[in-house]
Amino acid sequence: MEEKQGKPVEPKYVVLLGPPGAGKGTQAARLRENMDLPHIASGDLFREHLKNKTDLGLKANAFMERGELVPDDVTIAMVVDRLSRPDCVRGALLDGFPRTIAQAEALDRALAGDGRKIGVVPCITVPDEVLVERLSDRWLCPICGELYHVLFSPPRQPGVCDNDGGELYQRDDDKPETVRNRLAVYWEQTSPLIDHYTRRGILVEINGDQPIDMVQADLRAAVAGNPG
Ligand code: AP5
Ligand code: MG
Repeated sequence: MEEKQGKPVEPKYVVLLGPPGAGKGTQAARLRENMDLPHIASGDLFREHLKNKTDLGLKANAFMERGELVPDDVTIAMVVDRLSRPDCVRGALLDGFPRTIAQAEALDRALAGDGRKIGVVPCITVPDEVLVERLSDRWLCPICGELYHVLFSPPRQPGVCDNDGGELYQRDDDKPETVRNRLAVYWEQTSPLIDHYTRRGILVEINGDQPIDMVQADLRAAVAGNPG
């Protein structure tokens, strides 16, 4: 365990739960500035692999383009490997993982192996019809990953990233029919995690259907209220 001014600092593992489009990526980017922890997003890791044309990326993409979950064995191995890196000893912000009970159990085992555990699971909730609207107008920067929305967080210049001038693009899986499948998959395979973490007393529900800064304030309060 790390020490700060002679006192041991508990590592902090935060699992951001919530349906596609709830704002997990948007909020994690802001929380990360505040908490100085690595942001580990399984979807971003898969997209990075695909960009580099690795076998893992090509395999994952076959599932992602249909809006289905990538099989547990592949996903667990990738995230557990990422968590074993030195920058995760003080904790991590997990976004989009776990997404099944099997992944949640594997995460517990991986953390427990080093005497670590999940501190808090904020679950960002947003009505389904709002999610579809958010995803159909989401734009991303290919260079820094900054997220924009045409109406809710537009770039200063349309189509251009504020940070580095990157040409914004839309994700292939944000087509309306794929979004609908991703939502169905969330309710079928991922939502059982809400009960799972509620029973453990670490789930905090966050209203995601409010302005981005207000969601962030609620999240920071939830994380601060749970020492990890
Ligand atoms: P992943 O990349 O994780 O996608 P997702 O869960 O579908 O979530 P999104 O990234 O679409 O939404 P988000 O909650 O991050 O919202 P965002 O902040 O961008 O996964 C993609 C695929 O990879 C999966 O379908 C699966 O195939 C595979 N995969 C990944 N992890 C896996 C796993 N563990 N197991 C198996 N397979 C896995 O916000 C959305 C938009 O809304 C943005 O435009 C934003 O600007 C806007 N917005 C955000 N907050 C607000 C607000 N409060 N008000 C108004 N607008 C807002
Ligand atoms: Mg995301």
